[in-house]
Amino acid sequence: MPSFADLVRSHTDLEPADVAWLQLLQADWQIIADLSFADLVLWLPDRQGSGYWAAAQMRPTTGPTAYVDDIVGTFVPTGRRPMLDTAYSQGRLVREGDPEWRDDVPVRVETIPVRHAGRVIAVIARNTNLLGVRTPSRLELSYLQSAAELTQMIAAGHFPSPGQRSDHADTARVGDGFLRVDAAGRVVYASPNALSVYRRLGVSGDLAGLSLADLTRDLVPPRRRPDEETLSVVLGARAHADTEIGNDQVTLVLRSIPLRPTGELIGGLILLRDVTDLRRRDRELVTKDATIREIHHRVKNNLQTVAALLRLQARRIDSASAKSALEEAVRRVGSIAIVHEILSQAVEEHVPFDEIADRLGAMVTDVSALAGQVRVRRDGSFGELPSETANALAMVLTEILQNAVEHGYPPAEVPEEPQVTGEIVVRVRRLVGRMHLTVDDDGRGLPEGFDLDESTNLGLSIVRTLVESELGGQLELTAAPGGGTRAVVDVPLE
Ligand SMILES: Nc1ncnc2c1ncn2[C@@H]1O[C@H](COP(=O)(O)OP(=O)(O)O)[C@@H](O)[C@H]1O
Ligand SMILES: [Mg+2]
Repeated sequence: MPSFADLVRSHTDLEPADVAWLQLLQADWQIIADLSFADLVLWLPDRQGSGYWAAAQMRPTTGPTAYVDDIVGTFVPTGRRPMLDTAYSQGRLVREGDPEWRDDVPVRVETIPVRHAGRVIAVIARNTNLLGVRTPSRLELSYLQSAAELTQMIAAGHFPSPGQRSDHADTARVGDGFLRVDAAGRVVYASPNALSVYRRLGVSGDLAGLSLADLTRDLVPPRRRPDEETLSVVLGARAHADTEIGNDQVTLVLRSIPLRPTGELIGGLILLRDVTDLRRRDRELVTKDATIREIHHRVKNNLQTVAALLRLQARRIDSASAKSALEEAVRRVGSIAIVHEILSQAVEEHVPFDEIADRLGAMVTDVSALAGQVRVRRDGSFGELPSETANALAMVLTEILQNAVEHGYPPAEVPEEPQVTGEIVVRVRRLVGRMHLTVDDDGRGLPEGFDLDESTNLGLSIVRTLVESELGGQLELTAAPGGGTRAVVDVPLE
């Protein structure tokens, strides 16, 4: 289906300001479709004047559709639907007595010229499926009257109202609650849903005849309502505007549409929707996020305490191998703490891993005997990773980097010998659904006859288990092209 913009560009000569007007109209025309119980189709005149293109369509949510199929992109030549021609050329609403029959469905059609800056720029066809029409109730009469006034405003160029667009997700629809007020802001009609919303706000009697602004001011504490000016404008339906009000029990969004069919303000419509549950869920999500972040923060603090205790213990031990085992444990705990620290600052359960990788690199080189001689450089970006992946990957990277520092660059045996220097390159590529990571060092390389599958030391066992089981990926350890060692980690990402 071609888009509105495509159709405008390929078939019409509309100016940017006209296009903007038509887009503003589409932001609001759901209201008219709902109030009319009818399908709306926006027809744009062809550049050559040979006919009209259906550029947009809106179905009612309050009644049956007159168009089962989408008709956007359809062309109707001039003369085929005289009602379109009349509305366009004479600039007036056209209404015919007899229904059209479409696949055994009687459809009443009316056409409405869309006027902007004094010219007719398009035509709206309003199609009512007459099978859905019952003996009109007060609600239906009230809807239809308002729809008629809004269509008059479109024909006169008073609708849409420039300024506020109200097609956001929690905006109120006609079916959520509909109120009609007169020019003095007194309620003329309230739909049953609107009445229920006001009952929840604390009204016991009827709304008819009451000033909506005065009534609402009494029900809503000052901190839960907009400033006095906005309140009286919205609740008096004197401008096209949105606002949100509430008390301890209920939160509602309100949307006002002034009615000026002949230019003079005769009153307006107010749509309202109870969004109490929506707002409660929003608040719960916010506190849940904050709680999760706080937990990560505490886990990090606890891990740092554990690391400090192990470090203390390592200092008091004489056995060199026990000392180094404890120091390794300190490092492992430290790398998990870094992940939790980053998670405690993350907005979602996703972490930007580059920062973690860089800090791990710094941690591993700083504490080694080679501090300042070996450096870690990152090439490419890890991007965002889910927290579980980040945890496992942080451990993997720590072990690999640690091995490069520890086994790649042995400390000089005689202090006078020239000091070793080296560079470890962490290269990462995010491919579709995968992440490919290589860590190259330019040290002395793997021992003769080294076989990853035979190696039983703890460090690489941890790495292999995490890569293969936790991350579902593959690990390889080979000679780096430029001498030294290359570790390759390839893992799938969702
Ligand atoms: N980058 C590297 N350069 C040289 N040798 C390495 C490298 N990475 C791993 N090795 C070899 O693999 C062995 C096993 O590593 P690991 O399982 O981490 O145990 P550990 O580091 O405690 O010795 C190391 O002892 C070392 O011989
Ligand atoms: Mg190791």
